[in-house]
Amino acid sequence: MIQTPESLIVEDAVLTYGKGEFATPALRGVSLTAKPGEVLLIRGPSGSGKTTLLQLMGAMKEPDKGKVSICGTPTTGLSQKRLRAMRLNRIGFVFQFFNLLSSLRAWENIAAPLDIIGMDRGAAEKRAKALLAEFGLADRADHFPKQLSGGQRQRLAVARAIAHDPPVILADEPTAALDTENGQAVAQILRDLAVKEGRIVVLVSHDHRLEPMVDREITIEDGRVVEERGPARPKSNALRSTLSALIEARRAASGDGRGGSGARQEGPRISSLS
Ligand SMILES: Nc1ncnc2c1ncn2[C@@H]1O[C@H](COP(=O)(O)OP(=O)(O)OP(=O)(O)O)[C@@H](O)[C@H]1O
Ligand SMILES: [Mg+2]
Repeated sequence: MIQTPESLIVEDAVLTYGKGEFATPALRGVSLTAKPGEVLLIRGPSGSGKTTLLQLMGAMKEPDKGKVSICGTPTTGLSQKRLRAMRLNRIGFVFQFFNLLSSLRAWENIAAPLDIIGMDRGAAEKRAKALLAEFGLADRADHFPKQLSGGQRQRLAVARAIAHDPPVILADEPTAALDTENGQAVAQILRDLAVKEGRIVVLVSHDHRLEPMVDREITIEDGRVVEERGPARPKSNALRSTLSALIEARRAASGDGRGGSGARQEGPRISSLS
């Protein structure tokens, strides 16, 4: 998998929609850093600029002023072609309402973007089916999106977003359309993508159920950062998992058979959700 030691950095970003009397300032000087291996949550009231900010971070928009640097590459001044290449190679975007193609089967929804980046069809199908299995959707590979539950659709949307192995995952309200169980399952997948796989994960959400899953929280209001919290709770999570990994490693080294790392098996990320 692609790992990046480099963060995603937004510096003093300003963006206004429209002009003259129709001008709507969406971002009025936002700075933040999203780091590999952590989940950053962006929250704030409706209209505060969250989606706009996520679009800047995903090279979908450019700021009027300020800078965005995605894993070491500034987006400022890049041609449309290079911005598109940056999106295709570095960004996985998860949308609130899934944005799946209704005429394509589940595996084809994942394979289609791989086709765009030039992967051969056989390899794309194999990758798509492996991801479906990983997300507990192996038996839904040939289903169309409308034949899937909300939770299954969102898991499919996450699988599609990471199929090309991007170092950055950006998710706009990824759990808003889901019930608690499915919301937690999707949140856990996103957390694993950061913590276990070292990706940068940025979530925009109003969903308080996500809070235990995040490392840092940034609140924006009226296009400005008004609060930054963390990493108190998450650090302790990270610390806990580091400690348990150390304990496991020591047990394994001392020949204690109670669950050394060699005994661990990677199962599907999700096995039995509707
Ligand atoms: N395409 C657009 N044209 C003009 N104004 C826009 C456009 N998109 C967003 N805006 C305005 O920019 C501001 C920020 O919008 P944005 O969509 O980033 O907010 P948000 O925090 O994601 O809101 P929500 O929680 O409702 O999704 C709002 O005032 C919005 O009306
Ligand atoms: Mg929004």
